[in-house]
Amino acid sequence: MAGIALVVSLMMLTLPFCSIPYVVCYEYQVGGSRGWAVPPANDSKIYNDWASENRFRPNDVLWFKYTKDSVMAVTEAEYKGCNSSRPAFFSNNGNSLYSLNHSGAFYFISGVSGHCFKGQRMVVKVLSSDESQTGGGGGSSRSSAANFSPSWALKLASVIPLIVACFLSEPK
Ligand SMILES: *[C@@H]1O[C@H](CO)[C@@H](O)[C@H](O)[C@H]1NC(C)=O
Ligand SMILES: *[C@@H]1O[C@H](CO)[C@@H](O)[C@H](O)[C@H]1NC(C)=O
Ligand SMILES: *[C@@H]1O[C@H](CO)[C@@H](O)[C@H](O)[C@H]1NC(C)=O
Repeated sequence: MAGIALVVSLMMLTLPFCSIPYVVCYEYQVGGSRGWAVPPANDSKIYNDWASENRFRPNDVLWFKYTKDSVMAVTEAEYKGCNSSRPAFFSNNGNSLYSLNHSGAFYFISGVSGHCFKGQRMVVKVLSSDESQTGGGGGSSRSSAANFSPSWALKLASVIPLIVACFLSEPK
């Protein structure tokens, strides 16, 4: 699945950008090259930091890459309490794609006991179509450029959004 998306992405990247009428959506690798894993003890907020550095729009896709772990989409309360008993989405195949199919907040946790409490959890805020159209103006709560750490360029390089043609979700 991710392999196919990657191939499609690479195909799209070889086309001149201007020949694409509109970018349907992006695929983001969660956490960049680090992937989805228990954060270092002294840096437990890496996933929310990563999420706040990106501007997600409806139909963007999250790609979770991990080994011996799992990913769950849960409610806000379950996120706060690291409650993995009734996830809305669960995957443990090491390569999970999750489509952000509406605007608003999405909550993710690791389903492995203890990992969520160690910081392997993330809130993703998806802008409404209006907000993403108007650019900077709408997202007052977005982190500003000043919040970028010195290594932001490095992080960005490892988090380059892949352009994917989301054939699965028909553009309207
Ligand atoms: C965390 O600790 C590692 C080594 O123990 C260090 O290299 C790294 O810079 C530290 N990170 C932060 C954010 O303090
Ligand atoms: C965990 O979530 C489920 C379903 O949302 C709920 O029924 C249960 O009481 C929660 N458990 C705890 C310990 O909060
Ligand atoms: C988004 O996906 C979830 C789970 O697949 C589904 O229950 C929900 O209805 C979808 N929402 C929209 C707006 O398509």
